[in-house]
Amino acid sequence: MSQDSDNNHNNATRGMSNRLTNYGDADFSLFLRKAFIKGMGYTDDALSRPVIGIANTYSGYNACHGNVPGLVESVKRGVMLAGGLPVEFPTITLHESFAHPTSMYLRNLMALDTEEMIRAQPMDAVVVIGGCDKTVPAQLMAAASADIPTVQLVTGPMLSGSHRGTRVGACTDCRRYWAAYRGQDIDDAEISEVNDKLVPTVGTCSVMGTASTMACLAETLGIMLPNSATAPAVYADRQRIAEQSGTEAVRLARDGVTPSRILTPKAFENALRVLLSLGGSTNGLIHLTAIAGRLGIDIDLDAFDRMSRETPVLVDLKPSGEGYMEDLHRAGGLPTLLRELKPLLHLDTMTINGRTLGENIDAAVHLVEQPVVRPRSRPVYAQGGIAVLRGNLAPAGAIIKQSAASAELMQHRGRAVVFHSLEDLATRIDDPDLDVNADDVLVLANIGPKGAPGMPEAGYIPIPKKLATQGVKDMVRISDGRMSGTAAGTIVLHVSPEAAEGGTLGLVRDGDIIELDVSANRISLEVDEQTLESRRQETTAPPREQPPMLGYRRLFMEQILQADQGCDFKVCRPESHCRVPT
Ligand code: FES
Ligand code: MG
Repeated sequence: MSQDSDNNHNNATRGMSNRLTNYGDADFSLFLRKAFIKGMGYTDDALSRPVIGIANTYSGYNACHGNVPGLVESVKRGVMLAGGLPVEFPTITLHESFAHPTSMYLRNLMALDTEEMIRAQPMDAVVVIGGCDKTVPAQLMAAASADIPTVQLVTGPMLSGSHRGTRVGACTDCRRYWAAYRGQDIDDAEISEVNDKLVPTVGTCSVMGTASTMACLAETLGIMLPNSATAPAVYADRQRIAEQSGTEAVRLARDGVTPSRILTPKAFENALRVLLSLGGSTNGLIHLTAIAGRLGIDIDLDAFDRMSRETPVLVDLKPSGEGYMEDLHRAGGLPTLLRELKPLLHLDTMTINGRTLGENIDAAVHLVEQPVVRPRSRPVYAQGGIAVLRGNLAPAGAIIKQSAASAELMQHRGRAVVFHSLEDLATRIDDPDLDVNADDVLVLANIGPKGAPGMPEAGYIPIPKKLATQGVKDMVRISDGRMSGTAAGTIVLHVSPEAAEGGTLGLVRDGDIIELDVSANRISLEVDEQTLESRRQETTAPPREQPPMLGYRRLFMEQILQADQGCDFKVCRPESHCRVPT
């Protein structure tokens, strides 16, 4: 049976006969397959059902996925209630803090693993269970490429905690308390006390970081059930959503609704809108670019920026605002935001429950009074959360999360203080003799997709200790890296092309003048082209790992694309044929 005919479901499920291992005799292949799976006690009746795969991403290293075993059970229940046969299978999983050198380095590996396991094994539909930052992007990249009926389920956010009467949550408050500790505002005893309080339950970070952002974007794209992004990991709601996801997967399998029918250009436009309006993670833009790229859809950064000017931030959650994800859930979840954004959305996009986005919004409970999602007349921030910057420092673009930046630094001219690598930063940032003032611009080069490699979230450059202890809280910071979705500050990210690809960022020297003007979308290095060219000649390539470079590392270095192409692998992107937003 060819892969092409596998992908063509013709509204009929194939169950266990789907995608037979090739021994040259199809009947024998099925006979063998059934003999082996019967070793686990299945009857012919069970094996004649639509098979719903469940991608299990539980790991002892991943607290964000700590509730996955229970979710798998609930999905199975939903599948069986609808007459299907659930079969769980493992894939790799990624946690932000347990993925060396960075989880971004491994996102594409998880996407490849998930895609090929979906392709290889017999299943008529799949429920992919993700949560932590890179997992949902990896699973959606995989789903877009494998293109069999898919339901995304997320693990859900953790609850917030309490430290000496103050509400805290990962990981905006992790950064805030650490900055206070660096600034000697709190002592050793208190920082260790707070360490116990930041992550009080399993689940994903409790603020509008990358995990929460991607959950909201998946719901907006229509590949996740309506109102399923925000239910906390430990709520009964989360288990009910899992059960319903299983039930829905059986219907999707029967109807043959594949991700390419859901993940359309209009659906991506909606997702970009919601990203802006959430004050969502800057990583969300890279991930959406990667997912869309799998379907031949390009995200146009300049058009995205125009969209940003007319899309206000309405969700009052940290790091752009005040609350935590459980507050958004109590406020009616994502549908409350979607209702407010209705005039800006394509309401006719199809979702996995067989209804349009508009129909789902209309069917959701409407809480008239709630404190989290603002009306468009009273936004948290008048424009979208993310602005695109261009200039000689970033010819292929850079971004800034303007909703989480300091208003007084949005237009700023200052002297560059340059760090050439992560090691250089670690060695010198806290040096009492570092020549740095509060109105300087901190530059960190060589932390891009290839540079570090894996584009670490080191763009949140710490304030030099000697300034932190003087009370300096924010400075303009620029890098070719990323920052955590939970971080805040006047931070320019994703400078493209990166320094390791010959970008101008690698040519900045201490004392150069850099101008940031967010309202003019400009980031410029005030050094003439001739000087830059002579620096280019004398710049030797940054030290790279010595050969032999083998295995995944080699694949990564040969295949990785820049941030404006979602940091996907070249070989995973078909020829592009359309651009969004239009
Ligand atoms: Fe997993 Fe934040 S570390 S979501
Ligand atoms: Mg994160």
